[in-house]
Amino acid sequence: MSTIVMTGGTSGFGAVAAERLRQSSDARLILGARRPTSAGESVALDLLELDSVQAFAASVRERVGGIPIDALVLNAGVVLPDVAGRTVDGFETTFAVNHLAHYLLLRLLLPALADDAIVVLTTSGTHDPATGAGLAPPRHADAELLADPDRDPDRDPSTRKAGQQAYTASKLCTVLTVRSLSEHAEVQTRRITVVAYCPGQVFGTGLANHLSFPLRIAWSLLGTPVGWPLRRLNRNLNSRTAAGRGLADLALGVATPPTGRTYAALRRGRLTWPDPSELARQGELAQALWNDSARLVGLPDSGV
Ligand SMILES: NC(=O)c1ccc[n+]([C@@H]2O[C@H](COP(=O)([O-])OP(=O)(O)OC[C@H]3O[C@@H](n4cnc5c(N)ncnc54)[C@H](OP(=O)(O)O)[C@@H]3O)[C@@H](O)[C@H]2O)c1
Repeated sequence: MSTIVMTGGTSGFGAVAAERLRQSSDARLILGARRPTSAGESVALDLLELDSVQAFAASVRERVGGIPIDALVLNAGVVLPDVAGRTVDGFETTFAVNHLAHYLLLRLLLPALADDAIVVLTTSGTHDPATGAGLAPPRHADAELLADPDRDPDRDPSTRKAGQQAYTASKLCTVLTVRSLSEHAEVQTRRITVVAYCPGQVFGTGLANHLSFPLRIAWSLLGTPVGWPLRRLNRNLNSRTAAGRGLADLALGVATPPTGRTYAALRRGRLTWPDPSELARQGELAQALWNDSARLVGLPDSGV
């Protein structure tokens, strides 16, 4: 029996992926969730609190009881309209949920992973200005400034754009984290596969829940058959089913990265392996983010 641990499996395309993972041959699926779900064995996790992440990791380790984890799927995420919110730990909310909490979880569960394990982190093509996704692209991946945007001297004065940048930067952080991890000696020795997964644009999920009423309506309407014709015009648009299948295929090892590739992007329902953004390819940036994130969550920076 394989053991899979997942966040973000309660809604959107993550729920589709969770169902697929649960149904796959003999997988035991442990879901970190804010509320109980029938999709798997749910364990309390609120990514808004680092203490909750610590408790979740401890609970997972206890439950698996030394049996190695075969796949870790970190899919949860939020989009917020601004950067006003702070978590109980004092970090800007989007950055804290999308990056810092997952970074901590990754570090805590890595020792429990099987050799040959698969780690998939959900990112977004919006991290890359070249995709023309329509959201304000990230300007940097400076963890200290992302954690406390009030200190960022170049923060966009527009509330809306600052919120978009918090999201796109958090997803840049995901790609950089995957880069750092995949280059780590221990990860390479243990042949652990690490992938950043961009599902393309997937309407009809809960991702617009915190945005304005008109945006929420448009997002949900475009997720119905009304929006389907758009998929023929834009290769980045995918259905929830296709995006969930792409995520599950990566987690199950049904789809594997070509040598040297760590960024998967779903285009017209198919996994492709393009280069991520220019910023995402900078090794020094990746290293600095890794070390700064470790400091923010209270871990030593070196090692996994
Ligand atoms: N939809 C898109 O177009 C798109 C494009 C690129 C990337 N993505 C990324 O894909 C992932 C899934 O997004 P989605 O569109 O499927 O959105 P969604 O339906 O809103 O799903 C988000 C998931 O994250 C969980 N989550 C959010 N905050 C959490 C917290 N504090 N603690 C624990 N879990 C939390 C949610 O749990 P609850 O059920 O408790 O809310 C839910 O399971 C996200 O990382 C998103 O950034 C989406």
